[in-house]
Amino acid sequence: MEYKAQRGTIDILPKDQNIWSFVQDQCFETAKSFGYRYIETPIFEDSRIFERTVGEDTDIVEKEMYTFLDKGGDNISLRPENTAGVCRAFIENGLHNETLPSRLFYYGPMFRYERPQSGRYRQFHQFGIECIGDSSSDNDFEVIKLAWSIIKKLGIKSTKLHINSLGNKKDRELYISKLKEYFQKYLKDLPKVDQQRFEKAPLRLLDSKEEATINISVDAPKTLDYICKDSKIHHDNIINNLEILSNSDSDFKYKINDKLVRGLDYYNKTVFEYRSDSSGPQGVILGGGRYDPLIKILGGPDTPAVGFAMGIERIINELKKVDFNEKNRLDIVIVVLKDELRINAEQLSDFFRSKKLNTIIAPRRSVKAQFRFANNVNASLAVILGEEEIKNNLISIKPLNSRHEQIKINNDDIKKIRSLINSEE
Ligand code: HAM
Repeated sequence: MEYKAQRGTIDILPKDQNIWSFVQDQCFETAKSFGYRYIETPIFEDSRIFERTVGEDTDIVEKEMYTFLDKGGDNISLRPENTAGVCRAFIENGLHNETLPSRLFYYGPMFRYERPQSGRYRQFHQFGIECIGDSSSDNDFEVIKLAWSIIKKLGIKSTKLHINSLGNKKDRELYISKLKEYFQKYLKDLPKVDQQRFEKAPLRLLDSKEEATINISVDAPKTLDYICKDSKIHHDNIINNLEILSNSDSDFKYKINDKLVRGLDYYNKTVFEYRSDSSGPQGVILGGGRYDPLIKILGGPDTPAVGFAMGIERIINELKKVDFNEKNRLDIVIVVLKDELRINAEQLSDFFRSKKLNTIIAPRRSVKAQFRFANNVNASLAVILGEEEIKNNLISIKPLNSRHEQIKINNDDIKKIRSLINSEE
């Protein structure tokens, strides 16, 4: 075929809709249950928003942004992430004048020109949480716990929270100088890409994928040894809460990971990721942290914030691994025995839909072909409509997934229909 989807992009087909909406529903419901409210921002923004916040020397800004001049000559980028966009919207719409913290969540496509591989795409989806306007460690714990609630609800097993603290700006400068001092000794042993990182973004050496660098990093200085008292207390408070959570929930596991620095520049104090046991990029299913300096960098008032974003494609890969049981979303196909009765089928289908039963009327074909259609579209029930049924306000029902016999019931007995559907799932 002449035309193909762009490398690193995928079509989300109707057959996968169940799993996608399941994930989205769990994310939205959990966020709302924690008092978060939905926000939607544009897919493209002024490029400078990302340059100033995510950081000019990060891989994302340096190599991965879809940046172009539009027809009016403005330099814009497809969003590679949405924390910067949400903060831009927060300032522009005066949300800082409302009661703080502002608890916000979003969902949508992000764009990064990365080398595609399993779990790494050029267009991918994130669900994200931003809690803006409170510097307390309680909020860091809240977003970490919210993420955990989603992971539990989705039924994803074997994940572990990795957490670290980068301290404040001054701590980070001190730490970077110590890190450079350490790596200086091994500079000629580092692969070329990491020699460049050493110059431009030394923190990134800690999440290098190069074996030589990984080995050298083992004895590198630890951020936690260089953070100030305030950052240390902040970090310890979170760890205390995590300890309590892991005592009350044996599935919850965490690790203080002194190599965790994250690939975006705006973080201070807390950084965290949830990782599954899948290897490679697939394994990091969500990442986040505190980003107190960001809103001021964008021209807003000094406003602390913390949040995370979850990679939906990675979550779906995890669910497919544990054999996600796709629930049948089509409840009923109405099989019409005579074409003259199609008008009655229309009324009946409207009645079912008003009761939230997903219903299709089978196409004008032979009765046998209509049943075949009902099976092929994976409906739970065939509802059969003939003259006899209409005369007596009845319907005949044939459950399609089990060996249950065909039965006749009143045409408004929704309770019975629902129980039949449930026993088919
Ligand atoms: P991030 O770590 O760049 O953080 O991305 C968050 C998550 O998005 C990753 O953990 C991963 O699951 C998913 N992801 C990233 N890149 C790709 C890709 N190319 N293909 C598939 N999935 C991907 C952020 O974006 C921050 N804005 C998170 C945040 C929110 N921090 C504070 N608030």
